[in-house]
Amino acid sequence: MFGKKKPIPQIDKDQLELIENAQKRIKQKKRLYVHFVIFLIGAIFLIAANTVLGIGKDFQIFNIDWFVFAILLWLFFFVYHLFNVFVTHKFMGKAWEKAQLEKLVAKQQDRIESLKAEFIKEEKLIAQSEVFNESATQSETSITKTKKSELTIIVAAAENDAIGLGNKLIWHLSDDLKRFKALTNGHHIIMGRKTFESFPKPLPNRTHVVITRQKDYQAPSGVILVHSLEDAIDASKSDAQPFIIGGGQIYKQAMAIADKIELTRVHHNFDADTYFPKIDTSVWKETANVFNKKDADHDYEFSFLTYERK
Ligand SMILES: NC(=O)c1ccc[n+]([C@@H]2O[C@H](COP(=O)([O-])OP(=O)(O)OC[C@H]3O[C@@H](n4cnc5c(N)ncnc54)[C@H](OP(=O)(O)O)[C@@H]3O)[C@@H](O)[C@H]2O)c1
Repeated sequence: MFGKKKPIPQIDKDQLELIENAQKRIKQKKRLYVHFVIFLIGAIFLIAANTVLGIGKDFQIFNIDWFVFAILLWLFFFVYHLFNVFVTHKFMGKAWEKAQLEKLVAKQQDRIESLKAEFIKEEKLIAQSEVFNESATQSETSITKTKKSELTIIVAAAENDAIGLGNKLIWHLSDDLKRFKALTNGHHIIMGRKTFESFPKPLPNRTHVVITRQKDYQAPSGVILVHSLEDAIDASKSDAQPFIIGGGQIYKQAMAIADKIELTRVHHNFDADTYFPKIDTSVWKETANVFNKKDADHDYEFSFLTYERK
């Protein structure tokens, strides 16, 4: 009941064309054969007409009976027909054209394939060179960044290197605060968690990068939390001059990698619980020194010093 249907043979367009061509060839050959038979009968008839029936017996050309010329003329047409069937149609007929076309198409196909292969090869080379250029540019950029980025420590330290007590600054020097504001404005400021907590609120127009070991430490939005000094520097790599702003623990770690120190030396000794590391003059050279007298707003003398790594 649900037996398989007999498959109906399908003939595609090409096959149909081939069959039509074959049929045409058969017809051509048949016509040639009929022509040949008619020619033989016709030739016999022409000879008989002249010799037996005496038609045009007196009509001769160059002393040769007319039927000879008639048969020769007919023979010429037959040879022409023969030539058409076996030469012209065989070599330049539809089948020949098709074969030539197929050859051309095959050649074009080969050419397309080789072009495709060349194209893929070139694409690979371009992709490789792009990856190469990209990595070259990237390493160049990172070198440039490393070169350009100037990691700067900014600190105010007493003569005895005191910097803080009870998580607070020990003195109030308004020009020092102004200088801090001017230098760090628009930059990344990297600090330890304790220093961050010594501020009443984040400082305006600076990107705060706070270092803590606490994984669940909560900070206001916009503050970048990191868990090492390396990560803090990494988080500030878009900045040409990120600042290390303290406190004692972070200064200690940053001394080995910083490029510059902007120091406000307060010319006085203080009791403290947090100190700035000693500046090793074999490593650092002083490049600027501006002395400031004490006045109504400043209880102590102080100097603005710049150190650059030798
Ligand atoms: N005079 C100045 O110019 C100046 C400038 C800034 C600060 N200060 C003073 O310095 C004092 C604060 O300094 P401080 O040394 O006590 O504290 P701090 O350096 O500001 O912060 C220390 C905290 O930073 C985190 N930390 C440090 N190293 C870390 C590391 N390698 N990986 C991950 N987290 C790390 C820890 O946070 P967790 O405990 O959360 O893990 C650590 O408790 C205050 O008195 C402040 O007023 C003075």
